[in-house]
Amino acid sequence: MAKPLSVLFVSSEALPYIKTGGVADVAYSLPLALRDLGHDMRIMLPKYGSVSERRNRIHDINRLKDVPIPIGSHTDPATIKSSSINNPRAKVQAYITTNNKYFDAKKGIYSDAKTGKPYPDNSERFIYFCRSVIETCLILNWYPDIIHCNDWQTAFVLIMAKTAFSKDFKKTKFVFTFHNMNQQGEFSEKQFDLTGLSQKVKNDLIHKKMINPVKGALIYSDYITTVSETYAKDVLQDSKHTNDLNSLLLKYKKRYKGILNGIDTYSWDPKIDSLISKKMGNNFNEFKQPNKKTLALKTGLNYNEDIPMIGMITRLDEQKGFPLVLSSIDKLFHEDIQMVILCDGSQESKNELRDLSLKYPKKLKVRFGFDEPMAHLIEAGSDMFLMPSEYEPCGLNAMYSLAYGSVPIVRSTGGLNEIVIDFNSENKSGNGITFKNYKSADMIQSINKALSLFKNKELWEVIVQNGMSGDYSWGKSVKEYDEIYKSITKD
Ligand code: GLC
Repeated sequence: MAKPLSVLFVSSEALPYIKTGGVADVAYSLPLALRDLGHDMRIMLPKYGSVSERRNRIHDINRLKDVPIPIGSHTDPATIKSSSINNPRAKVQAYITTNNKYFDAKKGIYSDAKTGKPYPDNSERFIYFCRSVIETCLILNWYPDIIHCNDWQTAFVLIMAKTAFSKDFKKTKFVFTFHNMNQQGEFSEKQFDLTGLSQKVKNDLIHKKMINPVKGALIYSDYITTVSETYAKDVLQDSKHTNDLNSLLLKYKKRYKGILNGIDTYSWDPKIDSLISKKMGNNFNEFKQPNKKTLALKTGLNYNEDIPMIGMITRLDEQKGFPLVLSSIDKLFHEDIQMVILCDGSQESKNELRDLSLKYPKKLKVRFGFDEPMAHLIEAGSDMFLMPSEYEPCGLNAMYSLAYGSVPIVRSTGGLNEIVIDFNSENKSGNGITFKNYKSADMIQSINKALSLFKNKELWEVIVQNGMSGDYSWGKSVKEYDEIYKSITKD
């Protein structure tokens, strides 16, 4: 390859440390895939209270102990620790910001696990984290060729570097990837002083009378990406889920691209997955049935090969289509089906779902929180996987389902539109079931289509095999990131 680049990949969550959503998968798998191409990759994230230093082998680095981090008019020391992420092909250095007040003392990442409410000091926490990234580079005297920021929580890394620290970072280029344009981390103008940035920057960041980190990231980055081509295109027309930033994004069209995420094919390969007890061999049913049985046993359902098991791993919100599921459950459970949902969300939505599971104890089981082994078991043990999203930037779970022979039933939107192709019984093409309109009736219709296909064992096997034979790796997409990195560092 051409000259390898040094890249710092910044994210508010990353596996194996912590995960609330797909961004944690990407912050693990994409740096490893880029390392595999030869780049000097490092990642940086905060350490939340629930992350164990011992289990994750997080160590002190002498030079980065008690680093004073300016926040508003005072400083609060952070200790930047060291760890690494790896798969059998690559290893990547991780820097982890620790600070008791902002991160360690809290068990949740963005919200209080008990109340489900976002922490009131979230903007301050992530401004602090961003500044810790800047200070780390300064102390290490390491100014990478690329700093790759992800979502609003990391936006101030590039905003600070491009403005107050532009002399230090004069050679560094900045990529900003948004994984969900609906979340922009806005905060009140009063809090702007926490950033230590100038009035000019403040003016740039104001959007609808609030300080908007994503607006700043769009303005100051050298390149903007999001996680599928379809979402990249759709978001430009969508003022509702972009808080009207779509028109600004349109201005930067020339330095903007949608790149479909890939998956880490070591953690998500049913042949070698260490989180499931029965791995995939030559026979699909000898893989699916034991896992389905374990899933049923673990959740308290009766195992029956012939009763379709539908899995869901989701946040209980509008985006993920939770209202459609709620309004259809009574109808759905007229059919002989079982459903396991692993999810998180507000206390209210969790209560609603819990009540439903009490109403249908033989059909619906619910697990709350983020549970990676359970997520793998659901993919391995379910026959179908439901994603009725209102919009979906990528939708990694659909790829995991396909790889594990759990047929996805999805609304064709965003990345799902690229990942799942509706099955055509005539020419036997397609790997799942899709529907277009965001309506309960349409979702129910596609579930019914799946249920009738499931009864036809031969056809079902074809759909399953079509899915399992697909390539969901970073193979093609990582090259696109590589090209972007090269093109912006060229001069
Ligand atoms: C966000 C998006 C999801 C995407 C993930 C990783 O969670 O909602 O669609 O797969 O980020 O990019």
